[in-house]
Amino acid sequence: MKTLIMYFTRTNTTKILAEAIAKKTGAEIEVIKDKRNWSGVIGFIGGGRAAMKKELSDIEELQSRIEKYDLLILGMPVWAGTMPPAIRTFVTSNKEKIKKIAFFTTQGGAQKQRIFSDLKELSGLEPVAELFCTTKSIRANNYEAGLNDFVVKINAA
Ligand SMILES: Cc1cc2nc3c(=O)[nH]c(=O)nc-3n(C[C@H](O)[C@H](O)[C@H](O)COP(=O)(O)O)c2cc1C
Repeated sequence: MKTLIMYFTRTNTTKILAEAIAKKTGAEIEVIKDKRNWSGVIGFIGGGRAAMKKELSDIEELQSRIEKYDLLILGMPVWAGTMPPAIRTFVTSNKEKIKKIAFFTTQGGAQKQRIFSDLKELSGLEPVAELFCTTKSIRANNYEAGLNDFVVKINAA
């Protein structure tokens, strides 16, 4: 099965998880880059607001051809309970090319958030697997159990 991981990150927590998934699955990997700068306090506040308002943003041109892959594993940080604008843009403009999908997030809070239902609704796809990890667990390198369950589901897809 040809698998591609695509992820967005603001402060590289999601990158750590994306690379760990790539290592375990052998999937190819590409980062989704937002042309808008979300750094600093202004970026934090603006990011929360933009996510809440379901804004789209300009993303850089993708290198990968999504339609070539059997499975897309899409990762992102949770912003205001939902997806960042770059991911909303990516899903909106590429959903027709996606055969199967899996989602992973990193987030400050410990509870599952509405992002997963938002992603299902926006993509129109039922994911083969879902994973959320807290920022703290990623930084402490303590996310192996959840990651392994996720990879089992990916491999069975
Ligand atoms: C604009 C913004 C909004 C956020 N909103 C939430 C939230 O609603 N719930 C939550 O648990 N964490 C929230 N967080 C925390 C991030 O999801 C978390 O720190 C994540 O691991 C950051 O990933 P990154 O380093 O890949 O950007 C928010 C962070 C930012 C910057």
